[in-house]
Amino acid sequence: MTPEEFVKESGLLLGYDELRRVHDAMRAAMLRGLSHGDGCLRMIPAYVPPVSSPPPGEVIAIDAGGTNVRAAVVRFREGEEPIVEGMVRDGLPGADGEPVDGETFFARLAALVASLERPGLPLGFVFSYPTRILPDRDGILLRWTKEVRARDVEGARVGTGLSRALEEHFGVRTPSVTVLNDTVAALAAASTKLSGTGGAIGLIVGTGCNMAYFERTAAITKLSAEEAGPPEQAINMESGNFDGLPMTVFDHGLDESSEDPGRQRFEKQVAGRYLGELTRRVLRGAVGRGAVPPSVGRELAEPWRLETAHVAALLSEPARFEGPLAHVAPSEQAAVRLLARAVVTRAARLVAAGLSSVIDHLGLAAAPVAIVAEGTMYWKMPGFRQKVEETLDELTPPLGGSPRFVMLRIEDANMLGAGVAALS
Ligand code: BGC
Repeated sequence: MTPEEFVKESGLLLGYDELRRVHDAMRAAMLRGLSHGDGCLRMIPAYVPPVSSPPPGEVIAIDAGGTNVRAAVVRFREGEEPIVEGMVRDGLPGADGEPVDGETFFARLAALVASLERPGLPLGFVFSYPTRILPDRDGILLRWTKEVRARDVEGARVGTGLSRALEEHFGVRTPSVTVLNDTVAALAAASTKLSGTGGAIGLIVGTGCNMAYFERTAAITKLSAEEAGPPEQAINMESGNFDGLPMTVFDHGLDESSEDPGRQRFEKQVAGRYLGELTRRVLRGAVGRGAVPPSVGRELAEPWRLETAHVAALLSEPARFEGPLAHVAPSEQAAVRLLARAVVTRAARLVAAGLSSVIDHLGLAAAPVAIVAEGTMYWKMPGFRQKVEETLDELTPPLGGSPRFVMLRIEDANMLGAGVAALS
């Protein structure tokens, strides 16, 4: 069997009709999540309204992503572009396979904040996990994703955890903590640039994957009057948990070997935490079907050995074969690239299908929907963002000559958005 035949047989190719089915299922799940809060999309209200111009001030932004934590001071001055200063970084505790306890988790984050030596500033805490936001803008972690292991944090208030650690370990009192998802932070950053657009989407495709958008609070019918919040606010969809999509044997295998089987099925097909492992499984499958010779699979027996960065390297121009693929013979490299490209293309097409359902949910506005995208998969995986945009054009073609979407690039969107949200 040729590698092309293998790709066809494997179910990795998603045509227009399959993507439309994903689109329809996601729209239905969005409505369900807004009205009932159950089903695969949690649709979590963030209590963050669109802000066209944030008030002047300074904030500490801390961004706990899937792999790293970053903290910086964000400064807003009237009539000037905001500034992100003194960025410091650490690995995310619990993300490298070594479990930590909650105490250690928050102490490490607090140490990073304290190292900025700016006590007394409000905190914008970007916390990129399914977290129920409370009207006071603290948040309760519902569960970890992206294979992070930190005990006793699920079910706890994470804003309180961080401010308590700052006080206990560093004697720093924090006036306020605003907890927000990374997608919401990206959206908040975009909200200062939305004039002339028909709504906005914050998209993350990095270690994990998710979307947020601004919704009318009246449409979030699951909220009681007391819980309602501002008339328009960001919704963290938690779309990484969407499960209305075709699954191949490789997806099932990966899901079963993950920390949270049955969950984050969309994320496991598209995000950086999983794409290397998924590609490894596809390559092994191709060896099994004789589509590539056994030598290709020699160093791929161990789960999670192939990293997404290795996939990015082999899809670069010129291609670099690294890690467990360092010994692939030049004569086999084109076949390996073709298989890896199929995995990445499917991921990009699924991300586009997700975006198209939110664009359609926002309606047929005369102005295009602004999409602000963040994340290493989106910006660093060769060909990824081009494929997302090309597929999105296919799924949401221009209407009466006007484009349905426009991509916004905002440098340091998460840090800026944390600042905007904490000040407003
Ligand atoms: C989390 C989301 C987050 C996304 C991108 C997912 O695993 O559940 O909350 O927005 O990753 O970081």
